[in-house]
Amino acid sequence: MLELGVNIDHIATLRQARKTYEPDPVWAAVLSELGGADGITVHLREDRRHIQDRDLRLLRETVTVKLNLEMACEPTVIDIACATRPDQATLVPERREEVTTEGGLDVRSRQDAVTRAVERLRSEGIFVSLFLDPDLEQIEAGAATGADAVELHTGSYALARGAAQQEQLIKLTEAAKLVLERKMRLHAGHGLNYQNVHPIAAICGMRELNIGHSIVSRAVLVGLERAVREMKQLLVTQRG
Ligand code: PXP
Repeated sequence: MLELGVNIDHIATLRQARKTYEPDPVWAAVLSELGGADGITVHLREDRRHIQDRDLRLLRETVTVKLNLEMACEPTVIDIACATRPDQATLVPERREEVTTEGGLDVRSRQDAVTRAVERLRSEGIFVSLFLDPDLEQIEAGAATGADAVELHTGSYALARGAAQQEQLIKLTEAAKLVLERKMRLHAGHGLNYQNVHPIAAICGMRELNIGHSIVSRAVLVGLERAVREMKQLLVTQRG
C-alpha cells in the first residue's frame, strides 16, 4: 500500500503569522485523519517558525495514525524526539535562512554524526528515515548508517519541466532501485502536487509520500467559498 503522510507545517505557519491560536495544527491533524491520511508529518525547526513544542506534545497524544517528525540531526531536537517518541523520525538538513528544506541530508560529510543519531533514535524504538537527494553515493552512505528508510527528495523533479523533468524522474527511479536493494523502505516527498504526483506514486516499491504545501494550498481555496458564506450568514442573521 502507498501511504499518504500529510505535512501540516503550513497550518502552523498561518497561525504563527498572527501568533494566535488558530488555525490549530492539532485540528488539522484530526481532519487529515478523517480525510484518510495514513500519517501526519511535522517539522520541529530550531527556530520554531511553525510547529511549536506544544503542538508536538498534543499531536503525540491525539494522532492515531503514524506521527512522522522531521528534524535536524542535532542533539537538542534528538533529545525532544526521544522524549516524545514519534512513530517515525525523518532526518533532514536545516538552515536558518532557508524558506523550506532545500536539499537532501549530506550523509557523506557527516557519516558519524548521522550514524549516531540513527542509532540513538532506533534504540528508542523510533523508525528512522533519511531525506536524501536521488544521489547514489548519498544513498549508499545512508544505508551504512543503519537507517530504516530513505525519503527521496522530489524537489528538483517538481521544479523541472518537460525533458528535464523526465531526467529527474529517471534519477529518482534509479535511486529508488538502490534504496530497495539496500533493504530500506522507500519514501518520497517535497513539491509534490495534484499535477505531478502520479509518476512518483508509480515508482516501483514506493511506500510513502509526504505532501504538505499543495494540500494546504488547495484546502484554502476549496474551503474559502464556504468560509465566506458562513461569515456572510452570520452578518445576515445579526441584522435580522
Ligand atoms: N518531506 C520533507 C522531508 C520535507 O522537508 C517537506 C517540507 O517540509 C515535505 C516532505 C513536504 O513538502 P511540500 O510541503 O512541498 O509538499
